[in-house]
Amino acid sequence: MNKLQKFGEMASLQHVIQADFNEVFRKDYKLKGKWNELFFKNNNPIILELGCGKGEYTVALAKRYPELNFIGIDIKGARMYTGAMQSFQERLKNVAFVRTHIELTDSFFAQNEINEIWLTFPDPQMNKTRKRLTSTKFLTLYSKFLKSDGIIHLKTDSNFQFSYTLALIKENSFKIIEKYEDVHNQIVSTSVLNIKTYYEERFIEYGIPIKYCCFIPDFSLPLCEPEIDIPKDVYRNAGRGVKLY
Ligand SMILES: C[S@@+](CC[C@H](N)C(=O)[O-])C[C@H]1O[C@@H](n2cnc3c(N)ncnc32)[C@H](O)[C@@H]1O
Repeated sequence: MNKLQKFGEMASLQHVIQADFNEVFRKDYKLKGKWNELFFKNNNPIILELGCGKGEYTVALAKRYPELNFIGIDIKGARMYTGAMQSFQERLKNVAFVRTHIELTDSFFAQNEINEIWLTFPDPQMNKTRKRLTSTKFLTLYSKFLKSDGIIHLKTDSNFQFSYTLALIKENSFKIIEKYEDVHNQIVSTSVLNIKTYYEERFIEYGIPIKYCCFIPDFSLPLCEPEIDIPKDVYRNAGRGVKLY
Protein backbone atom coordinates (compact mmCIF):
# COMPACT_ATOMS: atom_id res chain seq x y z
CA MET A 1 0.00 0.00 0.00
CA ASN A 2 1.43 3.42 -0.91
CA LYS A 3 1.53 6.50 1.29
CA LEU A 4 -1.55 8.10 -0.27
CA GLN A 5 -3.64 4.99 0.28
CA LYS A 6 -2.46 4.84 3.89
CA PHE A 7 -3.35 8.51 4.44
CA GLY A 8 -6.76 7.91 2.86
CA GLU A 9 -7.47 4.97 5.13
CA MET A 10 -6.27 6.84 8.22
CA ALA A 11 -8.54 9.79 7.40
CA SER A 12 -11.53 7.52 8.06
CA LEU A 13 -10.30 6.51 11.54
CA GLN A 14 -11.85 8.50 14.36
CA HIS A 15 -8.97 7.86 16.73
CA VAL A 16 -6.41 9.39 14.33
CA ILE A 17 -6.15 13.17 14.42
CA GLN A 18 -4.45 14.89 11.51
CA ALA A 19 -5.02 18.56 12.23
CA ASP A 20 -4.07 21.13 9.60
CA PHE A 21 -1.07 23.25 10.54
CA ASN A 22 -3.33 26.34 10.54
CA GLU A 23 -5.68 24.67 13.01
CA VAL A 24 -2.95 24.36 15.64
CA PHE A 25 -0.17 26.85 14.93
CA ARG A 26 -0.41 29.35 17.81
CA LYS A 27 -3.97 28.12 18.35
CA ASP A 28 -5.56 25.62 20.69
CA TYR A 29 -6.83 22.42 19.12
CA LYS A 30 -10.47 21.75 20.00
CA LEU A 31 -9.62 18.77 22.26
CA LYS A 32 -7.05 20.70 24.32
CA GLY A 33 -7.95 20.25 27.99
CA LYS A 34 -10.87 18.00 27.01
CA TRP A 35 -9.30 14.74 25.88
CA ASN A 36 -10.87 12.76 28.70
CA GLU A 37 -14.26 14.44 28.56
CA LEU A 38 -14.76 14.45 24.79
CA PHE A 39 -12.49 11.77 23.39
CA PHE A 40 -11.76 8.96 25.87
CA LYS A 41 -14.93 9.59 27.88
CA ASN A 42 -13.33 8.56 31.15
CA ASN A 43 -11.12 10.13 33.81
CA ASN A 44 -8.07 7.94 33.32
CA PRO A 45 -4.49 9.21 33.23
CA ILE A 46 -3.15 10.09 29.77
CA ILE A 47 0.27 8.97 28.56
CA LEU A 48 2.02 10.29 25.45
CA GLU A 49 4.55 8.59 23.19
CA LEU A 50 6.42 11.35 21.33
CA GLY A 51 8.04 10.36 18.03
CA CYS A 52 6.03 7.13 18.22
CA GLY A 53 6.89 5.92 14.70
CA LYS A 54 4.74 2.82 14.20
CA GLY A 55 3.37 3.22 17.73
CA GLU A 56 4.58 -0.04 19.24
CA TYR A 57 4.66 1.38 22.78
CA THR A 58 1.35 3.18 22.43
CA VAL A 59 -0.47 0.02 21.30
CA ALA A 60 1.29 -2.50 23.54
CA LEU A 61 0.91 -0.35 26.68
CA ALA A 62 -2.76 0.33 25.84
CA LYS A 63 -3.42 -3.42 25.63
CA ARG A 64 -1.60 -4.05 28.89
CA TYR A 65 -3.18 -1.15 30.78
CA PRO A 66 -6.81 -0.69 29.69
CA GLU A 67 -7.30 1.64 32.70
CA LEU A 68 -4.92 4.21 31.15
CA ASN A 69 -5.22 6.29 27.96
CA PHE A 70 -2.42 6.47 25.38
CA ILE A 71 -1.69 8.94 22.59
CA GLY A 72 1.04 8.35 20.00
CA ILE A 73 2.43 11.42 18.25
CA ASP A 74 4.57 11.58 15.14
CA ILE A 75 4.82 13.69 12.02
CA LYS A 76 5.18 10.70 9.71
CA GLY A 77 1.73 9.35 8.90
CA ALA A 78 2.94 6.36 6.89
CA ARG A 79 4.70 5.01 10.00
CA MET A 80 1.82 5.79 12.33
CA TYR A 81 -0.49 3.85 10.01
CA THR A 82 0.76 0.54 11.48
CA GLY A 83 -0.25 1.38 15.06
CA ALA A 84 -3.39 3.20 13.95
CA MET A 85 -4.66 0.16 12.03
CA GLN A 86 -3.65 -2.32 14.73
CA SER A 87 -5.46 -0.39 17.47
CA PHE A 88 -8.52 -0.04 15.20
CA GLN A 89 -8.60 -3.75 14.32
CA GLU A 90 -8.16 -4.71 17.98
CA ARG A 91 -10.93 -2.24 18.95
CA LEU A 92 -8.79 -0.53 21.58
CA LYS A 93 -10.78 2.30 23.11
CA ASN A 94 -7.89 3.83 25.06
CA VAL A 95 -5.70 4.79 22.09
CA ALA A 96 -5.39 7.86 19.88
CA PHE A 97 -2.79 8.93 17.36
CA VAL A 98 -2.00 12.54 16.51
CA ARG A 99 -0.07 13.40 13.40
CA THR A 100 1.73 16.63 14.18
CA HIS A 101 5.07 18.19 15.04
CA ILE A 102 6.09 17.56 18.65
CA GLU A 103 6.87 21.29 18.82
CA LEU A 104 3.11 21.95 18.56
CA THR A 105 2.01 19.62 21.37
CA ASP A 106 1.15 22.53 23.67
CA SER A 107 -1.63 23.37 21.22
CA PHE A 108 -3.11 19.92 21.90
CA PHE A 109 -2.73 19.51 25.66
CA ALA A 110 -3.56 21.77 28.59
CA GLN A 111 -1.76 22.28 31.87
CA ASN A 112 -1.63 19.06 33.94
CA GLU A 113 -3.46 17.06 31.27
CA ILE A 114 -0.64 14.53 30.80
CA ASN A 115 0.70 12.05 33.36
CA GLU A 116 3.66 10.50 31.56
CA ILE A 117 5.74 10.90 28.42
CA TRP A 118 7.59 8.14 26.58
CA LEU A 119 10.46 9.08 24.26
CA THR A 120 11.27 5.99 22.23
CA PHE A 121 14.49 6.11 20.25
CA PRO A 122 14.48 9.82 19.47
CA ASP A 123 17.10 11.08 17.06
CA PRO A 124 20.03 11.96 19.41
CA GLN A 125 20.61 15.28 17.57
CA MET A 126 24.25 15.40 18.63
CA ASN A 127 24.91 18.72 16.93
CA LYS A 128 21.68 20.54 17.79
CA THR A 129 20.78 20.74 21.47
CA ARG A 130 17.57 22.63 20.76
CA LYS A 131 16.27 19.72 18.64
CA ARG A 132 17.05 17.08 21.29
CA LEU A 133 13.83 15.78 22.86
CA THR A 134 15.34 15.77 26.37
CA SER A 135 16.83 19.27 26.11
CA THR A 136 15.68 22.14 28.33
CA LYS A 137 13.89 23.58 25.30
CA PHE A 138 11.66 20.50 25.01
CA LEU A 139 11.33 20.11 28.79
CA THR A 140 10.00 23.66 28.89
CA LEU A 141 7.42 22.60 26.30
CA TYR A 142 6.48 19.48 28.30
CA SER A 143 6.13 21.61 31.46
CA LYS A 144 3.09 23.19 29.82
CA PHE A 145 1.09 19.95 30.01
CA LEU A 146 2.95 17.36 32.13
CA LYS A 147 1.69 17.04 35.73
CA SER A 148 4.07 18.21 38.45
CA ASP A 149 4.83 14.62 39.50
CA GLY A 150 4.73 13.43 35.87
CA ILE A 151 7.27 10.93 34.59
CA ILE A 152 9.46 11.02 31.49
CA HIS A 153 10.72 7.72 30.07
CA LEU A 154 13.63 7.59 27.65
CA LYS A 155 14.58 4.44 25.74
CA THR A 156 17.55 4.83 23.43
CA ASP A 157 20.38 3.08 21.62
CA SER A 158 22.47 6.25 21.75
CA ASN A 159 25.27 6.55 24.31
CA PHE A 160 25.29 10.26 23.61
CA GLN A 161 21.54 10.77 24.16
CA PHE A 162 21.70 8.68 27.33
CA SER A 163 24.77 10.44 28.80
CA TYR A 164 23.36 13.84 27.91
CA THR A 165 20.02 13.05 29.58
CA LEU A 166 21.68 11.70 32.74
CA ALA A 167 23.84 14.85 32.89
CA LEU A 168 20.72 16.99 32.51
CA ILE A 169 18.96 15.03 35.28
CA LYS A 170 21.96 15.58 37.57
CA GLU A 171 22.39 19.25 36.69
CA ASN A 172 18.75 19.94 37.54
CA SER A 173 18.56 17.59 40.56
CA PHE A 174 15.65 15.69 39.01
CA LYS A 175 14.51 12.48 40.68
CA ILE A 176 15.61 9.42 38.74
CA ILE A 177 13.33 6.44 39.22
CA GLU A 178 14.92 3.67 37.17
CA LYS A 179 17.99 3.30 34.96
CA TYR A 180 19.44 0.48 32.85
CA GLU A 181 22.55 0.56 30.68
CA ASP A 182 21.65 -2.70 28.91
CA VAL A 183 17.90 -3.21 29.17
CA HIS A 184 17.64 -6.59 27.47
CA ASN A 185 20.26 -8.15 29.72
CA GLN A 186 18.96 -6.59 32.92
CA ILE A 187 15.17 -6.70 33.04
CA VAL A 188 12.64 -9.37 33.94
CA SER A 189 10.51 -10.93 31.20
CA THR A 190 7.29 -9.24 32.37
CA SER A 191 8.72 -5.70 32.18
CA VAL A 192 7.17 -3.21 29.75
CA LEU A 193 10.74 -2.59 28.64
CA ASN A 194 10.48 -5.86 26.71
CA ILE A 195 8.19 -4.11 24.23
CA LYS A 196 10.43 -3.52 21.22
CA THR A 197 10.01 -0.79 18.64
CA TYR A 198 10.92 -0.99 14.95
CA TYR A 199 14.15 0.99 15.47
CA GLU A 200 14.97 -0.93 18.61
CA GLU A 201 14.82 -4.28 16.78
CA ARG A 202 17.32 -2.95 14.29
CA PHE A 203 19.71 -1.66 16.94
CA ILE A 204 19.53 -5.03 18.70
CA GLU A 205 20.44 -6.74 15.38
CA TYR A 206 23.57 -4.57 15.31
CA GLY A 207 24.43 -5.67 18.87
CA ILE A 208 23.90 -2.21 20.35
CA PRO A 209 22.84 -2.27 24.04
CA ILE A 210 19.52 -0.54 24.66
CA LYS A 211 19.50 2.03 27.44
CA TYR A 212 16.57 3.28 29.53
CA CYS A 213 15.91 5.76 32.26
CA CYS A 214 12.84 7.37 33.72
CA PHE A 215 12.74 10.47 35.85
CA ILE A 216 10.50 13.12 37.37
CA PRO A 217 11.45 16.61 36.18
CA ASP A 218 11.08 19.52 38.57
CA PHE A 219 9.69 22.54 36.77
CA SER A 220 9.60 24.77 39.84
CA LEU A 221 13.12 26.17 39.20
CA PRO A 222 14.69 27.49 35.97
CA LEU A 223 15.99 24.60 33.87
CA CYS A 224 19.73 24.37 33.20
CA GLU A 225 21.44 22.76 30.23
CA PRO A 226 24.27 20.45 31.33
CA GLU A 227 27.80 21.06 30.15
CA ILE A 228 28.68 18.07 28.05
CA ASP A 229 31.51 17.76 25.56
CA ILE A 230 30.82 15.71 22.50
CA PRO A 231 33.77 13.50 21.64
CA LYS A 232 31.85 11.95 18.77
CA ASP A 233 34.03 8.89 18.34
CA VAL A 234 33.40 7.92 21.93
CA TYR A 235 29.72 8.60 21.95
CA ARG A 236 28.81 7.19 18.57
CA ASN A 237 27.67 3.64 19.08
CA ALA A 238 30.31 1.08 18.25
CA GLY A 239 28.97 -1.16 15.54
CA ARG A 240 26.53 1.31 14.07
CA GLY A 241 27.82 1.14 10.54
CA VAL A 242 24.54 2.29 9.05
CA LYS A 243 22.67 5.51 9.31
CA LEU A 244 19.34 4.59 10.87
CA TYR A 245 18.13 8.04 11.87
C1 LIG B 1 14.20 7.27 15.14
S1 LIG B 1 12.51 7.31 14.88
C2 LIG B 1 11.88 6.31 16.19
C3 LIG B 1 10.48 5.83 15.91
C4 LIG B 1 9.93 4.85 16.93
N1 LIG B 1 9.76 5.47 18.23
C5 LIG B 1 10.80 3.63 17.02
O1 LIG B 1 11.50 3.48 18.03
O2 LIG B 1 10.76 2.82 16.11
C6 LIG B 1 12.10 8.95 15.40
C7 LIG B 1 10.67 9.32 15.10
O3 LIG B 1 10.42 10.61 15.61
C8 LIG B 1 9.66 11.34 14.66
N2 LIG B 1 9.98 12.76 14.86
C9 LIG B 1 11.23 13.31 14.93
N3 LIG B 1 11.12 14.63 15.16
C10 LIG B 1 9.80 14.91 15.24
C11 LIG B 1 9.07 16.10 15.47
N4 LIG B 1 9.69 17.26 15.69
N5 LIG B 1 7.72 16.03 15.49
C12 LIG B 1 7.09 14.85 15.28
N6 LIG B 1 7.74 13.69 15.06
C13 LIG B 1 9.07 13.71 15.05
C14 LIG B 1 10.10 10.83 13.31
O4 LIG B 1 9.12 11.04 12.33
C15 LIG B 1 10.34 9.35 13.62
O5 LIG B 1 9.21 8.57 13.35
